[in-house]
Amino acid sequence: MQLKNINIILGITGGIAAYKTPDLVRKLVAKGANVRVVMTDSAKEFVSPLALQAVSGNPVSDNLLDKDAEAAMGHIELARWADMLLVAPATANFMAKLTYGLADDLLSTLCLATPAPIYIAPAMNQQMWFADATQANLKILAQRKIQFLGPAQGEQACGDVGPGRMLEPQEIADLLVPESLEQLLAGKRITITAGPTREEIDPVRYLSNHSSGKMGYALATAAQELGATVTLISGPVNLQPPALIKTVSVINAQQMHDAVMQTTDTCDIFVGCAAVADYRVQQKTEQKIKKSDSELTLTFIKNPDILSDVAHLANAPFTLGFAAETQNLREYALDKLQRKKLNMIAANDVSDSTIGFNSEQNALNVFWSKGEKKLEVADKQLLARQLMQLVAQRYIEDTND
Ligand SMILES: Cc1cc2nc3c(=O)[nH]c(=O)nc-3n(C[C@H](O)[C@H](O)[C@H](O)COP(=O)(O)O)c2cc1C
Repeated sequence: MQLKNINIILGITGGIAAYKTPDLVRKLVAKGANVRVVMTDSAKEFVSPLALQAVSGNPVSDNLLDKDAEAAMGHIELARWADMLLVAPATANFMAKLTYGLADDLLSTLCLATPAPIYIAPAMNQQMWFADATQANLKILAQRKIQFLGPAQGEQACGDVGPGRMLEPQEIADLLVPESLEQLLAGKRITITAGPTREEIDPVRYLSNHSSGKMGYALATAAQELGATVTLISGPVNLQPPALIKTVSVINAQQMHDAVMQTTDTCDIFVGCAAVADYRVQQKTEQKIKKSDSELTLTFIKNPDILSDVAHLANAPFTLGFAAETQNLREYALDKLQRKKLNMIAANDVSDSTIGFNSEQNALNVFWSKGEKKLEVADKQLLARQLMQLVAQRYIEDTND
């Protein structure tokens, strides 16, 4: 059980998703955790403390200045008891309080007083999520050791569609990883590529693809959680570089190739998650191409094959590639595994528009020479953790062979 004997404070704030928290408590308890619930005043308008007391098996705390509660388990004692503090759902208001270190109720005080890692599962209307203030707070909190779980995309209680939904209770429970998680990749160096590449045609135009970089960024964080030292080499994306991970920004395939090759001497594992353009225009024009003839012909030449070049090195690192396919997934993936001399390949079906490129979710079929595993549809953070654990296990077995 992933959370066996782990003490978790579940902080519930006043968002509509609070109605899902009794289920969240049950999922945490099912994983072996001891859960103590702390609620804000607003949260109690959305879900009953009695229900949470019943499912957690512990009294619910809500008042910082309550003499009796302080005599039983005071706020500092509670803060020290926790191995993890999870705020789910976290309102925009609570994120703002956390950013500025306010301590005007029990939950915000505990966040300052606990040495335990803090996890935040935001839940709010998409407009509130995109508000400049919320985004600025998010940046500050992410730079601290606060880990964000979600939010997910989709239809919201208010009828809007967009990011801001709380992750489902099972996804949140699966994403909580105790600090004591085996550091399978301690001391190992990993290079990960992410995002698309952009191949310039003229000074204003380029060819690219729909890759958002989310999977590669999630893999970088997952590898770091397992103890690895990560270099993330990223094409142009709209994502914040993960805190404490060395991130190298590149534009085109040749630059990505060169940046990767600079790391291979010291790299134990290489994960090629970027959607690298196979071709670039032979001659980028110095001036903008004018609209003149009815047809325009461009000649393309092949870009270097980063995955294959890394995997064919004399002292090649353990190499994981990705295959985005629209048909014959298994056949194409196995062919790519052999042809490029990869150790593993993770294939996803991009014909399904609800997962993969530009989506919050993904599903993968992972193949290696002696086996395969299907990772079912899940949030990309969760999937990245499952995949990195599989990579670490395969890497350890291969190097012990
Ligand atoms: C019906 C209703 C639903 C709400 N849902 C949310 C929500 O999902 N996310 C959010 O950030 N605020 C939501 N709010 C606003 C918060 O309840 C409000 O900002 C409150 O001050 C939060 O207090 P707390 O952060 O101390 O729990 C909602 C308000 C109402 C009336």
